[in-house]
Amino acid sequence: MKPIQVGLLGIGTVGSGTFNVLRRNQEEIRRRAGRGIEITMVADLDVARARAVVGEGVTVVSDAREVIANPDIDIVIELIGGYGIAKALVMEAISAGKHVVTANKALLAVHGTEIFAAASARGVIVAFEAAVAGGIPIIKALREGLAANHIEWIAGIINGTTNFILSEMRDKGLDFEVVLKEAQRLGYAEADPSFDIEGVDAAHKATIMSAIAFGVPVQFHKAHVEGITKLSATDIRYAEQLGYRIKLLGITKRAPKGIELRVHPSLVPAKRLLANVEGAMNAVVVHGDAVGTTLYYGKGAGSEPTASAVIADLVDVTRLHTADPHHRVPHLAFQPDAMSDLPVLPMSEVITSYYLRMRVADEAGVLAKVTGVLALNGISIDAVLQREADEVGGEGATSTDLIILTHDTREGTMDTVLAELQSLPTVLSPIVRIRKEELR
Ligand code: HSE
Repeated sequence: MKPIQVGLLGIGTVGSGTFNVLRRNQEEIRRRAGRGIEITMVADLDVARARAVVGEGVTVVSDAREVIANPDIDIVIELIGGYGIAKALVMEAISAGKHVVTANKALLAVHGTEIFAAASARGVIVAFEAAVAGGIPIIKALREGLAANHIEWIAGIINGTTNFILSEMRDKGLDFEVVLKEAQRLGYAEADPSFDIEGVDAAHKATIMSAIAFGVPVQFHKAHVEGITKLSATDIRYAEQLGYRIKLLGITKRAPKGIELRVHPSLVPAKRLLANVEGAMNAVVVHGDAVGTTLYYGKGAGSEPTASAVIADLVDVTRLHTADPHHRVPHLAFQPDAMSDLPVLPMSEVITSYYLRMRVADEAGVLAKVTGVLALNGISIDAVLQREADEVGGEGATSTDLIILTHDTREGTMDTVLAELQSLPTVLSPIVRIRKEELR
């Protein structure tokens, strides 16, 4: 059978990796897919750069629409990114009857419902393994490998840039701004790192995982998104002393009244495997009722790791493209007419535990007052750490840091308690609150 023809839109880091791995491993890939897979056309605004990557024998154009219009192309790979032109091109490719493979998490997290509906109506596949955690086959695991399970929760380190920054902050005791500058200098963080450090990239990925884990629509606008920009080295150090590490987690969880969907820094017990994922690596923990806890670890970004996921999708599409669309794996794992309308819960309804740090006057009765407020609101304390005032503020200091770990409570209750604690005259500075996940 003649090779299936693929058009590639955007040949930057991931696009070059895809082209190179597909060529290098073509024989192995053909044995798996049942026929060859060839990128025969590439569109990139930088035609010279594209030509340098692909050499001769591949058509290179600057206009992506020429690829979509080519009747010989069966699959379009979209590696442009963003919600703008990428969305228009994906929709045009679908309406031209092309299957689409994309790494574009932002596009799917925000416009996935519209895109998947259009693809289903046209009978084409939109495949997106590379959109979440780069080379880790987490979409495959959630949609197919764990299909027997009632999935209970997912917690993942799904942004390499922030995990690298947090690892450096912990290892070297440095503050966020210092490490960010260094990460940019070394090329680990983008010149504009805001999507990464503000938690948006992780929230895009968590949104996609939430949809395929629970069979709900993608709803990025309902995700709670908090990054790492306000984290201080002090809290990383105190967390360490209490047996925890701080990680930026993407969490989605089935709760009695709905679904939690949130990205924020979290204390994780240092003994958990997830707490030991260092540098730019990614890891996702999935808990299912039948399988228990499973862990997926690997490179979440980079040229060939992400290409690995893109090509896995190409192989899937190649095997399935002649199949009756009803026999394919549904885009969001559940049949479109069997989707759930479980709501995404507001943060005030989320149940979790907390790390609190407050600067307090070093006087008799202060600890009793603080713990009294917690007790009156039904919040149970898990651990308390208080340093000598001298140790924190130098000789003669009259205030000190009080750190409290709580057991689970509703976030709405914690908000009320924090307001009350903050108004105590002996609490001298804004209270730092970081959520804590035991991941049992
Ligand atoms: N910028 C992302 C990260 C990779 O740092 O993990 C692409 O999603």
